[in-house]
Amino acid sequence: MNMLDSELVVASLRKQGYQLTDSIEEADALLFNTCSVREQAENKTYSHLGKLRQFKIDNPEKVIGVMGCMAQNHQKKIFQRAPYVDLIVGPGQLHQIPELIKKIEQGEGRQIEVSLGRRDGGREEIIRSHESFDPLRDPEMRPTPFQAFIRIQIGCDKFCTYCIVPSVRGPEQGRNPHDIIAEAKHLALHDTVEITLIGQTVNSYKAVDQDGKLWRMSDLLGELQEIDGIQRIKFVTNYPNDMTDDLLCAVRDLSKVSPYLHVPAQSGSERILKRMKRGYTVAQYRDMMHRIRETVPGAAVSSDFIVGFCGETDEEFQMTVDLVEECRFKNSFIFKYSEREGTKGAEMYDDDIPHHVKKERNNRLLEIQNQISLEDNQDMIGHTVDVLIEGISKTAIRKGEDTGPSVQLTGRTHCDRIVVCEGNPRQIGHILPMTIYETSPHTLFGEVVTEACGPELFGLG
Ligand code: 5AD
Ligand code: SF4
Repeated sequence: MNMLDSELVVASLRKQGYQLTDSIEEADALLFNTCSVREQAENKTYSHLGKLRQFKIDNPEKVIGVMGCMAQNHQKKIFQRAPYVDLIVGPGQLHQIPELIKKIEQGEGRQIEVSLGRRDGGREEIIRSHESFDPLRDPEMRPTPFQAFIRIQIGCDKFCTYCIVPSVRGPEQGRNPHDIIAEAKHLALHDTVEITLIGQTVNSYKAVDQDGKLWRMSDLLGELQEIDGIQRIKFVTNYPNDMTDDLLCAVRDLSKVSPYLHVPAQSGSERILKRMKRGYTVAQYRDMMHRIRETVPGAAVSSDFIVGFCGETDEEFQMTVDLVEECRFKNSFIFKYSEREGTKGAEMYDDDIPHHVKKERNNRLLEIQNQISLEDNQDMIGHTVDVLIEGISKTAIRKGEDTGPSVQLTGRTHCDRIVVCEGNPRQIGHILPMTIYETSPHTLFGEVVTEACGPELFGLG
């Protein structure tokens, strides 16, 4: 979500004549796009801001801004901790950034624009204060022409007790389906081959159009499948309760939709899930996994887990380990619980698991998940899969080996597995068949297939 917001803010500033620069000295404005999901992310922003204290004294004309979730979460507190910040803009006001920077440059002083809090008015009023920022994409302003995020939903109404998102991103709102389709068509006309639909609980998507027709996620996917030029459709991130059969059938039947589902479980303990107010039981999550495996055989499923949530015992953590072993996720993102002020979790429970225990649990779960990922990847050896080449690999860039006719490239399979290979940078943006010859837990190593290859070796990837 933040990557898309950054892209759109950069595009809107480019329209005003700004350019991106890597150099702080060259910049007229420095903007931080921020996250509030864990405390560490906020601390990082304050640490970066702290490093600009002297810089701002030496360069008072430069505009320093904080945008995104932390701007909404801390609001004026940011001015207190870093008084040299000029601009604070919440995720619902990003479209105002060019105008606000202009005001600051014209000497109108500090600017702050944020949305209403969840208790600061009626629902309609609060919704209006969280404006989605999705201008039709200007092709020249896009960082990668062949891939694009498309926002289909903003906000969240699930209110998991640990989570700050419903407070900072506001009420859940599904975007008008016709606008989404128009945006996808527009992107396809400008060389986009892969779109990723995004929302906090993207599979809960619901919207009623001008004709009174109700659109669900499966309806939307069906329409997007028909767009010429689009070859892959992904969607993140999913809420277990809304993984309905019609959606799974759409994933199975629509060739462009990636057989890849990211569905955070968060915990394998009944009591912890209840405390988290996730709204499902472990049995229901298991049932969902069975339905996925039955309906979309070969699909890759990934998950998120929080370890060390308030009161989590060793036995309860072990239940999470059991769930990971049973579900065999493609990969899992594992986080140490971080108490967030303003959430129900912070209000109701003690953050009582010591940091070293959270760390141990995090490492242990990661180790188990890595072993599963490695074993699954090893099964891919010898198979040929279609890979969308995304760019030059980070390793090649770090080593300065990023020029010439043969460099290390990186891409993804239809199931979202990362593949690296040797190739020509001209192949970036293309989908190529590749045979896998080696693997690590998170990366497959492949070779571009130049000759015809027996169909028995083709896998879903
Ligand atoms: N502490 C730790 N992890 C969190 N997440 C959300 N809130 C918190 C928190 N307070 C994790 C969840 C979510 C992912 C995006 O971040 O696992 O799925
Ligand atoms: Fe946060 Fe829960 Fe909403 Fe996900 S579903 S954004 S974890 S409140």
